[in-house]
Amino acid sequence: MKTAVITDIHGNREALKRILEDIESRGIKRIICLGDIVAKGIHNHDCVQLVKEKCDIAIAGNCDEYFSRDALKAESGRERKLIEAYQATMEKEDIEWLASLPYCHEESINGRLVRMFHAGPDSLSNDESNTLYASPNKRFRMFEAGRYTISKETADIVIFGHVHIQTMTRLYNRTLICCGSVGNPLDIIRNPEKDGSVSNTAEAQYLIMEDHAGTQTFSFVQVPYDIEKELIEGKDFFEYEQLSYELRNAAYRRNEKIRAILTRDGISFDQI
Ligand SMILES: [Fe+2]
Repeated sequence: MKTAVITDIHGNREALKRILEDIESRGIKRIICLGDIVAKGIHNHDCVQLVKEKCDIAIAGNCDEYFSRDALKAESGRERKLIEAYQATMEKEDIEWLASLPYCHEESINGRLVRMFHAGPDSLSNDESNTLYASPNKRFRMFEAGRYTISKETADIVIFGHVHIQTMTRLYNRTLICCGSVGNPLDIIRNPEKDGSVSNTAEAQYLIMEDHAGTQTFSFVQVPYDIEKELIEGKDFFEYEQLSYELRNAAYRRNEKIRAILTRDGISFDQI
């Protein structure tokens, strides 16, 4: 049994189409999506349609929840305009479907509890903690039950998205996996004097989970796609500059925000 786990598509139709082709070419029949299907990117309606059509299970990300809210209830004019701008890239049914998505999926594989969510057991955005670089204690929180989890057990394997960085780490006999990002892959720790090729990161990313006769495999996949083709229709898009910067450079538009959180948590790096 093979399952493809995809996440953080962010309206990138070209990247999503390429990974769906890749998944099909490998004969994988089951796809789970961990959210952030929309926002940041241009082709939000098409991405919702493709996920609805192709994925067996889909759960919500922070962007899906935020951009399916009632814009009239936004806390500020700026927020309302932003929600309206992204809702204009979708159909009414897309928005309703995004608002209906659950927050967690759990299954048992070889007697191990595999828990999947977008960012954390208690939050869709989890931006107060730094999942990948935090202390073991903070990272252990990712395995524990929280208000969004289905069972009250501590998970053996947690699979998530949100940070857009393809990573697997182990602690306390448990495995923590971020699938990366289909449509907005990033590396946060950057330094022009040390950076490798941007193409090492900027390709569409996903995870294959395989359960075969009692053995378990997790594989990271990177699929090249045509970034310029994705951007070509977006010249008039209101966030084109930020979007094209992120896709071409695999760098977050507000890296200083992440750097400040890391620094606060005592994690420093020599970014220039
Ligand atoms: Fe995301």
